[in-house]
Amino acid sequence: MITLGIETSCDETAVALVEDGSEIRANLIARQEHLHERYGGVVPEVAARAHVETLNPLLERALHEAGIDFGNLDGVAVTVGPGLVGALLVGMAAAKAVSLATGTPLIGVNHLEGHIWANFLAHGKPDPPYVALVVSGGHTMLVHIEEVHHHEVLGQTLDDAAGEAFDKVARLLGLGFPGGPALDALATGGDPAAVRFPRAMADSGDLDFSMSGLKTAVLRYLRAEQAAGREVSLPDVAASFQEAIVDVQVAKTVAAAKERAVDTILLGGGVVANTRLRERMAEAGSREGLRVLFPPLDLCTDNAAMIAAVGAARLALGERSSLDIAADPNLRLAT
Ligand code: KG4
Ligand code: ZN
Repeated sequence: MITLGIETSCDETAVALVEDGSEIRANLIARQEHLHERYGGVVPEVAARAHVETLNPLLERALHEAGIDFGNLDGVAVTVGPGLVGALLVGMAAAKAVSLATGTPLIGVNHLEGHIWANFLAHGKPDPPYVALVVSGGHTMLVHIEEVHHHEVLGQTLDDAAGEAFDKVARLLGLGFPGGPALDALATGGDPAAVRFPRAMADSGDLDFSMSGLKTAVLRYLRAEQAAGREVSLPDVAASFQEAIVDVQVAKTVAAAKERAVDTILLGGGVVANTRLRERMAEAGSREGLRVLFPPLDLCTDNAAMIAAVGAARLALGERSSLDIAADPNLRLAT
């Protein structure tokens, strides 16, 4: 069983071929960061155009790399949301064309479920229940999964997503776009206890998050230090900011696992590439007797292998999407 995965929800054009739902035969990603950098964020129109130009050659290359041709495909999985509507449409048009031309079934996939499933490509599929923390550029949420494909959202961010907070603070520190990876690298040389930034909602008693106050606190700190004529250690600020975010994420994820009495935690999304988050979650797991799984770095950020993995599982259950399925920029996780 070969499943083609296509992912174009944001600024990565991604194509993958996955065998039997878990063996990656090809996993290609064309990044567009250089096109968006000068704007300091993803420009939807620019992203959609770049997908149009990149997708077909990338698809050809993936097939070539895996030694597969269109005739060998058993299914086509594509991200239908959440994401930028113009960007999603490019991947969906391609997926529908391949499905129609090859007579193989089409399956629409939720990008967030993809981030959760990236774990299964790397670690096999432990039995549910799980609690999943999804932290990306657009989302920050805790999800209880009692049964595969059924999601109960336990809490989410009330304002900025974690990745957004990383990107905005990276910008304050002059690190360019997207700033998460650069901030992570800068923080390795800093002291996480140098500045005590607020742990927003740490004691709110629920599983929601708030990130915008932290960004403002960093801005205030930088201004105050500047006004006082003191030299700021950027690595210290980066490490301290990162620690504040990670502290709350670790605490709330462990709290969610305990509340739902699950012993497996799945981490997914671009922010899971963060060195400190991985370290602290692994530590918390061994301290609390919880199994903490996270994908390898290249499967944390957006990719199409995770989309193919979800698609293959859903196709195996007999699910199909019709050729007129629409993109849904605000798609929620199915309950
Ligand atoms: O999941 P993803 O690739 O795309 C979305 O679905 O949004 O996540 C991208 C986000 C960006 O905000 C990026 O800055 C952040 O993930 N990110 C990181 C790291 N690598 C990527 N944030 C912190 N540390 C990292 N190492
Ligand atoms: Zn993503």
